[in-house]
This record gives sequence, C-alpha cells and structure tokens, in this order.
Amino acid sequence: MACVELKNINKTFGQIEILPCVNLRIEDGEFVVFVGPSGCGKSTMLRLIAGLEDPSSGDIEIDGEVVTDQSPKERGVGMVFQSYALYPHMSVYENIAFGLKLGKAKKNKIREWVEKTAEVLQLEKLLDRKPRELSGGQRQRVAIGRAMAREPKIMLFDEPLSNLDASLRVQMRTEIAKLHDRLQSTMIYVTHDQVEAMTLADKIVVLNGGNIEQVGTPYELYETPASLFVAGFIGSPKMNLMPGRVAGETGASATTIDIRGLGQVTVNRETSGLKDGDSVTVGVRPEHFSLALSGPDHGLEVVNVEYLGNEAYVYVELPGMQELMVVRQPVPCEVQTGQRVALTTEPELVHVFDASGRALGPFQAESEATEQLAATQ
Ligand SMILES: Nc1ncnc2c1ncn2[C@@H]1O[C@H](COP(=O)(O)OP(=O)(O)OP(=O)(O)O)[C@@H](O)[C@H]1O
Ligand SMILES: [Mg+2]
Repeated sequence: MACVELKNINKTFGQIEILPCVNLRIEDGEFVVFVGPSGCGKSTMLRLIAGLEDPSSGDIEIDGEVVTDQSPKERGVGMVFQSYALYPHMSVYENIAFGLKLGKAKKNKIREWVEKTAEVLQLEKLLDRKPRELSGGQRQRVAIGRAMAREPKIMLFDEPLSNLDASLRVQMRTEIAKLHDRLQSTMIYVTHDQVEAMTLADKIVVLNGGNIEQVGTPYELYETPASLFVAGFIGSPKMNLMPGRVAGETGASATTIDIRGLGQVTVNRETSGLKDGDSVTVGVRPEHFSLALSGPDHGLEVVNVEYLGNEAYVYVELPGMQELMVVRQPVPCEVQTGQRVALTTEPELVHVFDASGRALGPFQAESEATEQLAATQ
C-alpha cells in the first residue's frame, strides 16, 4: 500500500525547465491518469516517481518517507512502457521471472510468484511459449506481469496500449481495470487516449507545459473544466469555443453575453470582475447544442455531416469564425450538407471563460456564500 507525494518538484534538462514546480498527492490505491499534449512532461513525471530520473529540486515521498535518493528497486515500483521489449529467446515464464532472478530470490519462491502473477493475468497456459508465439495483447500482459512479479507497491504505466490495435486496446483496458480492482495497488498511468483516461481514472491530472492545469475526477473535469485549456482538452469531439462579449452591465445574478453569429445568452455566472464590452470565451459541448432546420435564406450553413453509425456529427459554420461548430446528433440524422439551421442551447450548459482562460463559476446563492464565510471565521 502506498501513497505518493511530489513536493515542489522542479526538473530541468540543461537550460530547459521541463517541470517548473509540481505539487501532487496520489492516495493509496488510487488509479491516477496523467494527460496532456506531447512534450508536456508526463513521462518525465512518471520517471521521476520511478526513480529513473532525479529531480533538479524538490522531494518525492512514498508513504511519508522521502525516497528522492532511492533506486527504483528500493522504492517498490514496477513500470510498463509503451514499447514492451520482451526477451525474445526466453519463455513467458522466464520473462516474468527475470526480475526476480536478478533479485536473487529462491527458486521455489520464484515459481510461486510467477504462477500467481500468471493466474492474475490469465497467462497460465502460455508460460512455455516464446514472445513470437503470442498476440500483441498477450505480449503486453507478459510485460505487465514482469513489472508486477515483484509485487510493487506502485505500478507505473507509460502509454502501455498505444501499440495495440483498437479492439485489443479495449480488451486490455478492461484487463487493466480488473487488475486494479484485484490488486488495489496504487497505479499511475499516462495516456493520449481520452476513453482510457475517462474510464480508468479515479483522478485525472491535466498537464500543460509542465504545469498542472487541473486535478479531478473524470466527471469534474468534463462538467466543470477550470480553464479553457482543460475545456478544450477533455472531451471528444472537443467543446465548441466561441468568442463572446459582455453585453451591458453585469448583473447581481445574471450576465448577458453576445456571441457573434449566434445571438445572446444570459448566464448565471460569477462575472463580477467583468464589465460591459469585456471579451470572454463561450464554450458549448457538441451534445449540448440543439439543432433545428431554418428557412433557406436565414440561419447557419451546414458544411459537413459525418455519419458514425451510432451517431452523427454535424459541422456548422458561424459567420466570421474559422473553426466549425460540431453538433452531436442521434441517427438517423435528418440534416444534410448545405442546409440552413438554427443552433440553440440552455444557459446552464454554457461554459464561460475570462480573457485569461479561467472558468467563471456559477453565482453562489446568498445563503451559501454566508455559510462559507461563517465557516472560515
Ligand atoms: N533526457 C532528456 N534530455 C533533454 N530533454 C528531455 C529529456 N527527456 C525529455 N526531455 C524533454 O522534456 C520535455 C517533456 O518530455 P516528456 O517525455 O516528459 O513528454 P511527454 O509529455 O511524455 O510527451 P509524449 O506525449 O510525446 O510522450 C520534452 O520537451 C522533451 O523533449
Ligand atoms: Mg511520454
């Protein structure tokens, strides 16, 4: 059992600062997923936790003990990489046992461990095979088995499924979720895959240029992204983002925003820092737009309709905007390319971001605000 804490971690390669100052706590038994654009520092953070990389400053603690100077083995971590190089001349048994042999464990103990690991990963019948005689998913399970065999307190995965085809990925995703349920060990997982992040994570950490943008459950990140970056990053297709402008004085509990080409929306958001004419960004998820056919001479033009089998994406052009709006529609979809449509949404489904990209939260009801104030006194 292990909780992990990164305290003021800074990592610099030569002159380049990759992680300016990371603070993060991962609870015992938690499944945490790191996401973020390529080069934002996900693998570097994983390697720092593993002990494969030293921080330039700051400390890493496992269960309250500083492990910054400990080797990977001393830390009790197991790591699975994207390119899982198995030893081709060794059997599945020998591959899983390899790390244990290096650790000079007794032969009967090794057999016990390998058999237990093979059982968890359903590899019992494959122990005598060589890696070339296995499917991609089976090979990946052997790589996980090799990392697991020492019974690490923490398992680290760096894009472990990205080399597999789509159906194998789905299968292995379920396997990894089951593995976490069974072992209850702390797992930290890096992925580019939205579905993997949303389905596996207890907690997602969104990184942007070496900084943590937001930490939260998949639900929190999807429903209440704290910044424009997170709003655009979590969700596929992406949240529609449109330039808006505060229209008139911001009210005590409601503010009207002008969206060019779309009209006005009156939202219940904390816009107290804003004034008439200020620029904001308005966000609407593709499933939160409603679409209605309008007359041939007015409305917005449908530029493309993508049919996906279970649903359709309708792309609509807003005047003066390069990026097209995406609307998620059930099938059969009545709308066709070239038709004119009207887009509407509900004010409570609209996200608003200020000029610095910070999300504006809903107004607090007065009694709630007073209660909070009382609690802090
Ligand atoms: N050993 C190194 N020396 C110099 N720069 C490095 C080294 N390792 C990583 N970097 C740089 O640090 C940055 C973060 O790299 P990292 O591998 O952590 O990114 P990542 O988020 O895992 O990206 P990806 O999604 O592409 O795997 C990159 O700009 C990379 O070029
Ligand atoms: Mg990486």
